[in-house]
Amino acid sequence: MGRTILVTGGAGFIGSNFVLQRIAAGDRVINLDKLTYAGNPSNLASVQHHPAHTFVQGGIEDSALVQALLRTHQPDALVNFAAESHVDRSIASPEEFIFTNLVGTFRLLNESLAYFRALSPQLQSSFRFLHVSTDEVYGSLGPTDAAFAESDPYQPSSPYSASKAGSDHLVRAYRHTYGLPTLTTNCSNNYGPYQFPEKLIPLVILNALNGKALPIYGDGLNVRDWLYVGDHCEAIAQVLDQGVPGQTYNIGGSSEMTNLDVVTTICSILDELHPEGAPHNRLITFVEDRPGHDRRYAINAAKIKRELGWQPAESFATGIRRTVEWYLANSAWIEQVTSGQYRNWIAANYEARGAK
Ligand code: NAD
Ligand code: TYD
Repeated sequence: MGRTILVTGGAGFIGSNFVLQRIAAGDRVINLDKLTYAGNPSNLASVQHHPAHTFVQGGIEDSALVQALLRTHQPDALVNFAAESHVDRSIASPEEFIFTNLVGTFRLLNESLAYFRALSPQLQSSFRFLHVSTDEVYGSLGPTDAAFAESDPYQPSSPYSASKAGSDHLVRAYRHTYGLPTLTTNCSNNYGPYQFPEKLIPLVILNALNGKALPIYGDGLNVRDWLYVGDHCEAIAQVLDQGVPGQTYNIGGSSEMTNLDVVTTICSILDELHPEGAPHNRLITFVEDRPGHDRRYAINAAKIKRELGWQPAESFATGIRRTVEWYLANSAWIEQVTSGQYRNWIAANYEARGAK
């Protein structure tokens, strides 16, 4: 029999991919999600009536609700995806980031500790609290700096990464001070199905399909280390199974790309799969840079490979093609997520930037 996992933020991009993957693997999932603008129940349509999936709408900051879910469902593990996750939004309005990422994680830790303390010694030995974090906590790299290792100091530079860094510190403190069996994963930029089109890759795919400008911040030479979301979810499952409590694992695809390379790659795939509007790279438009824009992220994933045997199945070339194909095949999903609030954000973020 599989485990029972309390997943938070399981209606978002990575969380929903993880929920679908774990249910397919035979686990039972209790899915707690507040359904902010980023949470989308239609990501979970295929498991809506699945007996192994229980969806609960609510916030991780709601201590009474979290306590009730832990008591009722007696999970073997908790995986915390719930967060405000978009850097540009954290620059425009940071408060929600501090509330969910810091206060929310703190309350979740508190309730998990109370639950953990009441478990039998046998169940205590297998319980895990896995906190899903980001490589952005390590700050920005120069062009020749070594990729981020788990022992690197934290140097977050946006309200988003600072709030995630704070949550990582709280997780570490709950392990060190109270003995809660925590695991932390710090992953690089993800892409794949169900990603909300405010982030670079889905935004560019959708804009290109609609003949709209493809906005590149600054000179387009900022570098990110891209990982296909399915590979990230597999890595999390492996850390849950085999990770050592108290440890941190960096997860990345060893696929460093400039933003300009990412966008031109998407344009060439679209030229082939959706020739209307080709060449799509004619839509590339340089716009005003993001304030405090981190120049480069790169993950050294040697530890998770050496200790747990994980490595990505997809290269950027195969993963980005699958992703473009998914967006082409899922126009109903796109229409649903790009209504209402989405348009307000696009107007607020891009109209002020203008073309350079
Ligand atoms: P997302 O924004 O797509 O999803 C976040 C989910 O959390 C949404 O479903 C939202 O409704 C939910 N949520 C927000 N506030 C909540 C609250 N207070 N209580 C309960 N649910 C709440 O984010 P994502 O891209 O799927 O990222 C998931 C996690 O992975 C985040 O913690 C993020 O920091 C981390 N991460 C993301 C990336 C990436 O490239 N997207 C990379 C590394 C790490
Ligand atoms: P994003 O997907 O927001 O992820 P993150 O900021 O967490 O890395 O952005 C990825 C990169 O793409 C980042 O360097 C900012 C850049 N970017 C653009 O150039 N244009 C855009 O419209 C967006 C959303 C991002």
